[in-house]
Amino acid sequence: MRIKLWIGMAAALLLSPMLASAADTIDGKALYGANCASCHGATGEVSEYGKSLKPFPARNHRAIADLIGRDEMRRIISYGVRGTAMTPKKYTLDALEIEAVIDYIKTFEYTPNLANGKKRFEAVCVSCHGVDGRAQTGMGAKNLVYSKLNLEEIVHTMRYGRQGTMMKSNRHQLSNEDIADVANYVFALRYMANPAKGKKLFANNCSTCHATPRTVKLIGNAASKRTVADLSDRLLDLRIRHGRHVDRAGKKVENLSADDIQDIVAYMRKSTK
Ligand code: HEC
Ligand code: HEC
Ligand code: HEC
Repeated sequence: MRIKLWIGMAAALLLSPMLASAADTIDGKALYGANCASCHGATGEVSEYGKSLKPFPARNHRAIADLIGRDEMRRIISYGVRGTAMTPKKYTLDALEIEAVIDYIKTFEYTPNLANGKKRFEAVCVSCHGVDGRAQTGMGAKNLVYSKLNLEEIVHTMRYGRQGTMMKSNRHQLSNEDIADVANYVFALRYMANPAKGKKLFANNCSTCHATPRTVKLIGNAASKRTVADLSDRLLDLRIRHGRHVDRAGKKVENLSADDIQDIVAYMRKSTK
């Protein structure tokens, strides 16, 4: 009796870490080969059969392995994508098996092609975001040079769009390779502003009227309660380039390039912190 009890307890103690490491011992690669490769290809590059599927072909996993979060992958794999050949897999794979498959997908690597990203960006995005990504198009799109989004968030915005705005989902318009290339191109547009250069530009173009960034007063209703620090980079840029003060500052502002303004914004940020 006593011995049996001890064995039972020992087994219970042993069992919990064994369950936890089960995901490590499940062969994600083999599961992928058996359940996914017919459409997505053994190495994540869509098979001929996968390409022929209607209404939408299977998608390349290699290109987005790094760019789609685990939660999103788990949701798509478990529940599928309605109206496509991507049926729910939660009836054929259990939760641990799905994790192992995701682990395997996450080992795929892809080198983005920035030249293709630029080409596709110019074909699909510039009507709203502008050739330089700064969105001076009057379409209300965001200035991508100022975007704080990371790569995964850029990809998410491209895949799903923003509800209630002109930013529509591009998922079925672009292949996953294109999405990865465009997202990396957009990310690379981010201009690394130089506050030291901004300081000089401020001294030459702004200081006759604004002794220092701290003394800049905002215009408008809530002006007395708000300061430069309350504005996002994008709004500050807009007010410098298109605000009412342009009437007074005139050429001093007109002659500055978009990068100059961004350097000035960086300097103003640094000295109004
Ligand atoms: C019968 C073909 C088929 C099989 C088998 C299949 N898929 Fe899919 N899968 C598709 C199609 C088609 C899509 C594209 C759906 C769409 O247009 O949104 C897709 C989309 C996906 C996506 C989203 C990709 C993206 O870029 O939006 C993931 C993730 C995915 N599949 C994972 C898997 C995994 C993991 C397996 C195996 C467990 C699997 N699929 C098996 C056809 C298949
Ligand atoms: C029809 C106009 C239009 C087109 C075309 C368009 N966008 Fe947009 N985009 C918008 C608008 C409008 C917003 C702002 C949405 C909001 O208010 O949140 C936006 C926002 C974004 C954002 C979020 C930026 C941030 O910092 O929040 C990204 C990233 C983006 N777009 C990328 C792209 C890419 C890449 C393409 C091309 C594949 C594209 N967009 C095509 C109108 C467009
Ligand atoms: C010829 C004078 C003059 C010059 C030069 C000038 N500004 Fe202004 N600016 C003003 C006036 C006047 C206002 C209105 C607020 C005030 O009275 O201080 C203003 C307001 C602003 C505002 C607030 C705008 C708003 O809409 O709330 C910002 C930001 C600003 N200036 C930045 C700059 C920067 C940056 C430069 C240099 C590139 C510059 N200004 C050059 C006269 C000038």
